Amino acid sequence: PMCIFSGIQPTGVPHIGNLLGALFNWVSIQNSLQASRASSSSTPPPELYFSIVGLHALTIPQNPATLAQERKDMLASLLAIGLDPEQSTIYHQDEVGEHAQLHWLLSCLVSMGRLRRMTTWKGKIATARGTATPVEPEQGGPTAGEADEGIADVDEEHRDLSLGLFSYPVLQAADILLYKATHVPIGQDQVQHLELARDIAATFNKRFPSSHTTPKSSKSRREPPFFPLPQPLITSTPKILSLRDPTAKMSKSAPDPASRILLTDDDTAIRAKVKRAVTDTERSISFDPEGRPGVSSLLSIIAALRSYQAQQTQSTLDPFAAASAGVTPKEVAQQLDSSGGGHALLKETVTSALIEVLGPIRERFQQLKEREAQSGYLEQVAALGREKASVRAKETLGEVKERMGLR
Ligand code: TYM
Repeated sequence: PMCIFSGIQPTGVPHIGNLLGALFNWVSIQNSLQASRASSSSTPPPELYFSIVGLHALTIPQNPATLAQERKDMLASLLAIGLDPEQSTIYHQDEVGEHAQLHWLLSCLVSMGRLRRMTTWKGKIATARGTATPVEPEQGGPTAGEADEGIADVDEEHRDLSLGLFSYPVLQAADILLYKATHVPIGQDQVQHLELARDIAATFNKRFPSSHTTPKSSKSRREPPFFPLPQPLITSTPKILSLRDPTAKMSKSAPDPASRILLTDDDTAIRAKVKRAVTDTERSISFDPEGRPGVSSLLSIIAALRSYQAQQTQSTLDPFAAASAGVTPKEVAQQLDSSGGGHALLKETVTSALIEVLGPIRERFQQLKEREAQSGYLEQVAALGREKASVRAKETLGEVKERMGLR
């Protein structure tokens, strides 16, 4: 049976990279599955899990008061964009204890070497290398085996990075596998994490092919693999770039707030940020991601927003057709270039598309926050999600422990 899982860290309200790279896809999958559910009843209904991953947020230092607020704001954001707690299981990962338990069990199946090759980890090391103040080498030194891999240097740079950060991708694999997810809608930066989840799933399937308590007679039947290998679902804009530096992706943690547009930005903020967006000095408008990353990124944003708007007005029966609906960045470039408005017109067009799409979302976000203040609505939604998620989580964890010999 089909099962969709994805997650987002509660480290600030989503930016348009999160929205166009993943979150709008969550909503369109939910809505198109609902449409197809209404039209056929033969196959079991696909399950949808969308998780706010507080445990992942803790892998780098967080201010507790800020995290508590951002956790709530993330739930409000997910509802504001159109996720529906009746159709999807929307919940806080940190409220379902099985995630951390499965993390442990899976961590015993992954090598340190495999984890050290993850680009997100290597990125943190690089950052530490560039910014960390030099530290005294530790007493004792590395063993001979470690020395030839150059771990002596690495150890030093790891000093301020947590064990949790290192095993972050294993926790992510646990999130996905706990629900036996078949599809994971994510942006480009998460693809490597998904590959690890697939590897871990395959390793588990191979090492624990069937329950050791299952009678021999029924073992001969060909069983499907215990964990399905989860596939990524990528949008046509899997990597939205920073507005200030079009060689980097848009991120929640970049120091310059003008590098990203947030779900909660008002019209004035949107206008100001787009105005400052880095483009180039060519007069014409053309789509050329290699040569003109700044201009091309704005074109991609316009195309993605228009496709999103087109989808709002038509309900497609194909859950994975989302990316193909609407207009391409190249077409947007041609339209703008033929009207001869240059960069000013390009920026006006991005600004108005953003205002049109984000305006109603921002309004719903504010309404949800008011509703929360009056009636604790978000708490109720979180409780419903926790209950629904726990059912599947308990079931899978029980089976995993049994296969591993813990029952
Ligand atoms: P996070 O919280 O960084 O981002 C949430 C989603 O937004 C996508 N995204 C982007 N897409 C396009 N352009 C960008 N500039 C951009 N920035 C972020 C991300 O790819 C992601 O899909 N490790 C995950 C959270 C996680 C998870 C999971 C995801 C934990 N467990 C299980 C899927 C399945 C993360 O930090 O996403």
